[in-house]
Amino acid sequence: AAAEKGGFESFMDKEIHDQPHAVADTLLGRTDASGRIVLDDLRIDESLLRAVDKIIVVACGTAAYAGHVAKYAIEHWCRIPVEVELAHEFRYRDPIVDAGTLVVAISQSGETMDTLMAVRHAREQGAKVIAVVNTNGSTIPRESDAVLYTHAGPEIAVASTKAFLAQITAAYVLGLYLAQLRGNKFPDEIAATFDELRDMSRKVQTVIERGEYVRATARSMADADKVLFLGRHVGYPVAMEGALKLKELAYIHAEGFAAGELKHGPIALIDEGQPVFVVVPSPRGRDQLHSKVVSNIQEIRARGARTLVIAEDGDDEVRKYADEVFWIPKAPTLLQPLLAVVPLQIFAMALATAKGLDVDQPRNLAKSVTVE
Ligand code: G6P
Repeated sequence: AAAEKGGFESFMDKEIHDQPHAVADTLLGRTDASGRIVLDDLRIDESLLRAVDKIIVVACGTAAYAGHVAKYAIEHWCRIPVEVELAHEFRYRDPIVDAGTLVVAISQSGETMDTLMAVRHAREQGAKVIAVVNTNGSTIPRESDAVLYTHAGPEIAVASTKAFLAQITAAYVLGLYLAQLRGNKFPDEIAATFDELRDMSRKVQTVIERGEYVRATARSMADADKVLFLGRHVGYPVAMEGALKLKELAYIHAEGFAAGELKHGPIALIDEGQPVFVVVPSPRGRDQLHSKVVSNIQEIRARGARTLVIAEDGDDEVRKYADEVFWIPKAPTLLQPLLAVVPLQIFAMALATAKGLDVDQPRNLAKSVTVE
């Protein structure tokens, strides 16, 4: 087992370090010489994909958060409404699904029973299903109309890390492909975005190399009993994923909120010393996202929160209001989740390790849940 861990302390640590490859490999072979996206393995009639009027992502756990991230990008690029739903909720609520619906089932294992049941239900209603799955030859792709494999390699640790980055990457490729097919974007825009996506592998590596500061912070917080996570836009699902990692690994009560929702309730949770992670959007992004989140940080800090901020290199504005800053390289807003989640993964792993817990095999959890 020690050899399989490649010299790392745990499978999780190894898999965090695999992430630059997971992103790069998932993009491999997806474009032709002219930069057009080619999805040869997607055996669904192009005319059907052009006519899709709604996308529903079904998934569980971390895969569902990847779906939430993808919603922002796919809607922005394709102008198709995207819903994201936990597979077990979708299945049992009489969802509106028909031949114009494209269901995207995201699953690392390809064996999650809840997701499989949602796939079967969607197909019975006449929808086409594309599986975004990491495990070759698993059940969900077999029962879907098409599959877009993530190439993260085998993921052993129960808490998902590299599969999450690969799922976002694959769903983005799908979004760009649909935009190309439907003529929503010019070919050079699609090629440029794809290049930026390819460049993320190197930037993920940079974040990993900065991991020691995150680990040291985590070690100093081994007695924390609740931790909050805030994010806005694509940073919101990242916040939820950061909270999930901490629950799964360190058994700490953790919750992710949309930063804008703070004033509608969660701010009441803030008292002296309360640790709050905040995912800060790029200051170069649009729509005042950055300034809105900076004011959220000011609000919680004024109420005593200890602010642990994930921010883009060079963001001097946010530094003033942060107790700790975990810096990530500059990236377009929609691609930032691939970087911002990494310090949160490392934090949860290091805090659990500091508590003496087994990060690869957390209590009560299974890698793949094959019962409903
Ligand atoms: C289990 C795992 C989670 C995972 C979820 C979905 O609950 O513990 O880490 O996110 O299943 O798994 P899947 O294989 O469908 O992505």
